[in-house]
Amino acid sequence: MTKHAAVWRSGVLAGLGLGLGARGAGHRVENWPVPLEARKLKNPVAATPSTLAAAKAVFQENCVQCHGEEGKGDGPEAPMYSVKPANFSDAYMMREMTDGEIFYKITEGRMPMPSFKKRLTDEQRWQLVNYVKTFAPKPGAKSSGVGAKKSPPHKH
Ligand code: HEC
Repeated sequence: MTKHAAVWRSGVLAGLGLGLGARGAGHRVENWPVPLEARKLKNPVAATPSTLAAAKAVFQENCVQCHGEEGKGDGPEAPMYSVKPANFSDAYMMREMTDGEIFYKITEGRMPMPSFKKRLTDEQRWQLVNYVKTFAPKPGAKSSGVGAKKSPPHKH
């Protein structure tokens, strides 16, 4: 993995001049189109203590370096990139995403995030979908402020 990662990364760094810098400060991932069919996919994996534990291990190995231990987008490698890794503890952002959408993004990746289509199995990626959703406070759990006056999040 390390040798590959290094090669891959140098390619990415070379490609970072392509106008991505302007979005560095934003937390909402914009303009990442996800096909409707992909958005509608249902997660076949239930979020149980054992599937979440499995996903946590995969996350530690493949994702923390960018997304951080608590999913805040503040992993040790995050400062290397001009695009900030997504913050999974942002309940508002997470609420907007369907499981299928998260799965699609993990599968495809987008620079600097690698594609995990070949690195992880479908099942591992669906487990990760459940896992990344655990970083955000549950809707309604913290009722002050955001969400209190909003229309309820759409169901999927
Ligand atoms: C090399 C750093 C890096 C690694 C490793 C990485 N990501 Fe990312 N990830 C990013 C960046 C940067 C973005 C934002 C991409 C953009 O805005 O175009 C992102 C975005 C995402 C998104 C989309 C969030 C949204 O708001 O649309 C998801 C979901 C995600 N990552 C999950 C993962 C998971 C799960 C792993 C591990 C299997 C992982 N990432 C590994 C850097 C990384």
